[in-house]
Amino acid sequence: MSKPKVFVTRIIPDKGLDLVKDFCDMDLWEGELPPSRAELLQHVQGVDGVLCLLTDKIDGEVMDAAGLQLKVISNFAVGYDNIDVSAATARKLPVGNTPDVLTDSTADFAFALMLSAGRRIFEGDRYVRADKWQTWGPMLLLGIEMKGTTLGLVGFGRIGKAMARRAVGFDMRVIYYDQNETGDDLDVKATPVALETLLEESDFISLHTPLTPATHHLIDSEALAKMKPSAVVINTSRGPVVDMDALYEALKTKRIFAAALDVTEPEPSPANHPLLTLDNVVIVPHIASATKTARDKMAWLAAKNLIAGLKGEHLPNCVNPQVYK
Ligand code: DGY
Repeated sequence: MSKPKVFVTRIIPDKGLDLVKDFCDMDLWEGELPPSRAELLQHVQGVDGVLCLLTDKIDGEVMDAAGLQLKVISNFAVGYDNIDVSAATARKLPVGNTPDVLTDSTADFAFALMLSAGRRIFEGDRYVRADKWQTWGPMLLLGIEMKGTTLGLVGFGRIGKAMARRAVGFDMRVIYYDQNETGDDLDVKATPVALETLLEESDFISLHTPLTPATHHLIDSEALAKMKPSAVVINTSRGPVVDMDALYEALKTKRIFAAALDVTEPEPSPANHPLLTLDNVVIVPHIASATKTARDKMAWLAAKNLIAGLKGEHLPNCVNPQVYK
């Protein structure tokens, strides 16, 4: 019997790729950069499944280019704003994602960014590299002490909750804003508040919300104006949750203290972006989940989702389970 045909849009860890290779007739995109739109449309033709990355826009056009035999779309990411899920649901196509397995790596990283921005670690490194270090200074690069500060979590899903657990170890007060999630299942104290209260009361504001029309530019000039002058914004969710121009103004005028961004709009962020002229911002290239442990598990889960879909079984992690009704 012939194997199902799949297109895998980038090399992923062997933990997943080996499973796909065994079960499928695999077309693997080996480029370091994602396939272009034209290449994507061409390579999906006639496939039964697509294993894609957050850099691939999978919309109705791609689904139709694949053809009616397409059975499953498996995203190598927990976020799936790159996929038109309504278009998939309308075509009865299950869409898989990779939650849980990257929760700790992402929360570790968001916490690291929070400490780095609050304690000006990257700024200190740049200072030393620029040969500005003359002597020990009582007022040199003063930052924010974590104990007793308030962490405001925008989005209180798995990663937001993992942040709350870490923050308690630093004696921080935790508040959160989420319209759907509660902290009822949590072993540490976190208080739900209105977004406005969170913006006004937090010393650190960490974003853990999916990108949706409602969260697009959630952190805009109005939101930034409500923050304390000592506030630090950390974004490990999706770039467009923050209005980058408004953030630039707020950082430049010292309206807020600092920001640390793992994600930007657009991605990649050009090296000549005005934000990079400022000392009170840290930008890294979307690496919050980048540990070997997490990426191996993401690959494994993405492969499991793909193969389940090809077999006509329920995906272990399906974002549109209504396709099964
Ligand atoms: C995701 O999974 O959505 C992250 O942004 C990348 O790991």
